[in-house]
Amino acid sequence: MEIIIQPTAAVASGIAARLVARLLREKPSAVLGLATGNTPRMLYQELARRKLEWSKVTTFDLDEYVGLPPEHPGSYYQFMRENLFRHVNVTPANIHVPDGMTKDIPGFCAHYEQAIRAAGGIDLQVLGIGSDGHIGFNEPTSSLSSRTRIKTLTAQTRRDNSKFFECEADVPHHVITMGIGTILEARQIVLLAFGEQKAQAIAQAVEGPISAMCPASVLQLHPDTKVFLDEAASRLLTKVDYYRWVYDNKPDWQKTSGP
Ligand code: F6R
Repeated sequence: MEIIIQPTAAVASGIAARLVARLLREKPSAVLGLATGNTPRMLYQELARRKLEWSKVTTFDLDEYVGLPPEHPGSYYQFMRENLFRHVNVTPANIHVPDGMTKDIPGFCAHYEQAIRAAGGIDLQVLGIGSDGHIGFNEPTSSLSSRTRIKTLTAQTRRDNSKFFECEADVPHHVITMGIGTILEARQIVLLAFGEQKAQAIAQAVEGPISAMCPASVLQLHPDTKVFLDEAASRLLTKVDYYRWVYDNKPDWQKTSGP
């Protein structure tokens, strides 16, 4: 894992955006895995601002609430439309968001996995992290080799996500989410975490043992994961000085910089 600590979420998101932009320039038909939630908003804003070529890009969203139609304001489809898709020239047929209204959840999940494979696999997966360490909606105790399936949200996640709904009671209990095994197959992973409320989950994910109690800790097994943090989210890490030194002293060919 490469840990990149920046003074603010905006600066960290800007560097992450450069990484995604570079991929889209090098591989115009790139396959992106995308997260929703507050965390990647600035990344998506920055990507939209850069006026990149998205017409051949394929996207797969990590998750969607079961029971919410795409036009529901709380749905992740709407979130992606508002925060990214309507600002870039992505081809609508290349956008994939799990269908929260499907009548056949196992069938749909198998089809989603197959669609990812048929697209050639995910080149770069954007992730946020839950305050309980979830990635996608793989809550603590999720199988570390799980595939796309239905999951039940924890009370904490429903509380955290009530910010996107009128009240907590409106937050669905169930979601369809890519599995941890699905996420681990992405060739490159960019995890973003900002704010004090993510500090504990980040400390466990980066420096704790690999454990299903903190699903993000499985990223320690992934060969190319970059973790972008602001100061607050890095607060409980013990090796901050080391992470900063590594980033500040990279050989040019390894730098996450450039236009
Ligand atoms: C959503 C997702 C989740 C969120 C996490 C953090 O697609 O995959 O894992 O990334 O719940 O949410 P925010 O960013 O709202 O704090």
